[in-house]
Amino acid sequence: MSKTYPTGLQDILPIVLLAAVLTFFITPADTHSAKKELSTPPESLANWYKPQNKRQVWLHLMFRLGESSHAVSLYSKKGDADSMARWAAILAENYRRIPKMVPEWAAQIDEDGVYNLEKSAAKKDIAGVKKALKKIRQSCKSCHGEFKATSIAIYRSADFSKVKIKTADGEQNKSYKTVMRSMRRDLNNLKIARSDLHPEEARRHAKKLTDKLSFLKGSCGSCHKDKEPTERILGDKTFKTMDKLLVALKEPGKTKNSGRLLGEMGFTVCGRCHSIHRNSVAIKKLLK
Ligand code: HEC
Ligand code: HEC
Ligand code: HEC
Repeated sequence: MSKTYPTGLQDILPIVLLAAVLTFFITPADTHSAKKELSTPPESLANWYKPQNKRQVWLHLMFRLGESSHAVSLYSKKGDADSMARWAAILAENYRRIPKMVPEWAAQIDEDGVYNLEKSAAKKDIAGVKKALKKIRQSCKSCHGEFKATSIAIYRSADFSKVKIKTADGEQNKSYKTVMRSMRRDLNNLKIARSDLHPEEARRHAKKLTDKLSFLKGSCGSCHKDKEPTERILGDKTFKTMDKLLVALKEPGKTKNSGRLLGEMGFTVCGRCHSIHRNSVAIKKLLK
């Protein structure tokens, strides 16, 4: 799996990437000249997401709206007024649930639009239904434009704040943040010792890092019931890479091999997991 980055760059690439991500998220907003105002959804939306609710109720309401508005449009085009009217009733009923579920969003609803939809549907007035649907859809678009992305960032990213990582026997369980910071220290110590030709020290830090990766692996099961997601990132292959790294570090003169293995670990373990889990945590923190 050798990649074709120039030697040297290949060694530090994972750290450069990590640093870039870190800098991006920790740079204070006021150093940017162009600020973008973001609207966050009302607190009451939380009632329709985990953990307050067992199911993703809001999202399912949205799927129902998407399906029923599609059906109304489909049957109005086909000229099947009965089916159109049946789906229009479903659309109206679900659309009216929005302000009941999130009262702060009452003003986002197009009352006239839904009234006209029902009235036209009852009369089997296809042109009237089409017109009303078009108006309602503008309200969908407007709320989505303002709130969809921030709602997804806040309510649909996994919450790592309460997950504890079991470390060595007898020690207290640690938070994700604590373990992450200590892995970063191990990785930096390892890289410095490696480039300054202190092989034993480099190996000592590599061992510490490997231990932490196996503790970290133990935490994935607190959310993942199937083993595939964990194996993709912290499977046998990763631990074999770490074993090979420990061997390669014995030859301080030949840094190419250890550099390649370090890069591989950085991409497949830290990089891959961060793009799934850490980026969303960072965005969510910015919005809260
Ligand atoms: C679950 C998969 C996962 C893996 C594997 C992983 N991380 Fe993380 N990392 C996270 C999450 C989630 C956060 C955000 C934690 C938070 O802010 O509560 C994070 C945050 C961090 C942070 C920022 C900590 C701070 O100061 O706020 C660093 C540094 C870090 N990780 C380093 C690493 C390194 C180095 C590796 C690889 C050796 C790695 N991580 C592997 C998920 C992972
Ligand atoms: C008052 C705000 C609001 C209104 C009005 C609204 N939505 Fe949504 N909608 C949202 C939010 C917030 C999400 C993000 C939910 C999530 O992904 O967890 C969403 C997500 C969706 C999704 C999922 C899309 C995806 O990218 O996964 C569909 C489909 C959808 N809405 C359809 C509709 C339709 C059709 C209407 C109008 C008939 C509508 N919505 C009206 C707020 C609204
Ligand atoms: C706080 C809960 C939580 C923890 C802890 C957690 N994950 Fe996830 N993970 C999720 C959620 C939610 C998703 C998205 C839905 C899904 O695919 O299950 C996800 C998705 C993933 C995916 C992409 C989906 C796939 O099947 O490939 C991978 C890979 C992954 N996680 C790896 C890990 C690894 C490795 C760890 C431990 C180091 C971990 N996760 C810890 C909640 C968590």
